[in-house]
Amino acid sequence: MPTHLSNILKTSKQLFDSFFESYTKELFFPNTRITEACLYSLRAGGKRIRPIFVINSFFSPTELPLETNLKKHKSVYLASLAVECIHTYSLIHDDLPAMDNDDTRRGLPTCHIQFDEATAILAGDTLNSLSFYLLSLLETADPTAIRDSIQILHQGAGIRGMILGQMEDIEEEKNPSTKDQESKLTSIHEKKTGALIEASFLLGNRLRPDWEERKVVISSYAQEIGLLFQITDDILDVEGNLEDLGKTPGKDAKAGKLTYPGLYGMETAKKLRDESVAKAISLISDLPSLNNEFFLGLPKYIAERKN
Ligand code: IPE
Ligand code: IPE
Ligand code: MG
Ligand code: MG
Ligand code: MG
Repeated sequence: MPTHLSNILKTSKQLFDSFFESYTKELFFPNTRITEACLYSLRAGGKRIRPIFVINSFFSPTELPLETNLKKHKSVYLASLAVECIHTYSLIHDDLPAMDNDDTRRGLPTCHIQFDEATAILAGDTLNSLSFYLLSLLETADPTAIRDSIQILHQGAGIRGMILGQMEDIEEEKNPSTKDQESKLTSIHEKKTGALIEASFLLGNRLRPDWEERKVVISSYAQEIGLLFQITDDILDVEGNLEDLGKTPGKDAKAGKLTYPGLYGMETAKKLRDESVAKAISLISDLPSLNNEFFLGLPKYIAERKN
């Protein structure tokens, strides 16, 4: 039962990776080009931050196991894989020439560079539908948990969440707004990145018997974490390097994206980032049962990340 944040993150990533590797064989038909493309992107070395959110909104740090116990906790790992599949699909599509046109992701050539555009589109589609299938496999005494989980993921990833945010991000790049850019920017970030991050926390929480009493606080905290995560992504695009990031820096300004450093300047962007850290900590403090090392330490960890 690790209690320091770095150990909590490391242990939960290991739990996810070991489930992923053991379960992948069951999920993908072997030796097809589409399987190869899906596994190429899934295995390319993401941080697994969203699965970590699912796992740690289910287990408190003192409950976090050192090994997966699939007899007892398979559902939490299925939900964490569902989120990582959606996220990986969103990256594959985000990198396509018609969207951000990036050639490096997770330290490797992007899916459409390694394979081709048609394969990358289909790999994204595969991972999208696979996520909802994974949620249909949840093993829970309360069948409404399955329905709720599907709705939570749809809310985060679909037309009210990530997809809408991505659409607005692209529209803004092509045809920048002339007024109210501050609220437009926050709203894009909350949807394109925040919504799936919120869904990650809510999915883990939904599998707990006491989910209802934690839901409102976790949800507002997760929304703040989502915004903070994208503010730091914008900052890292300016200050990071290819080796740490595993993706090419400096792309946002070139593409004319609406970003925090672009709109406010770097100094103010960092001030807003730090305000977001303080806000997330204060939101989670509203429920003493959530005042643990994971929830309290996470905002600063995200603000200080290098990749
Ligand atoms: C990148 O997400 C895309 C954003 C939503 C900012 P991550 O920074 O979590 O990327 P991986 O999964 O570690 O590659
Ligand atoms: C990503 O935003 C949001 C997604 C839904 C993938 P970005 O376009 O800023 O992500 P990166 O910087 O390419 O990872
Ligand atoms: Mg993008
Ligand atoms: Mg991008
Ligand atoms: Mg970015």
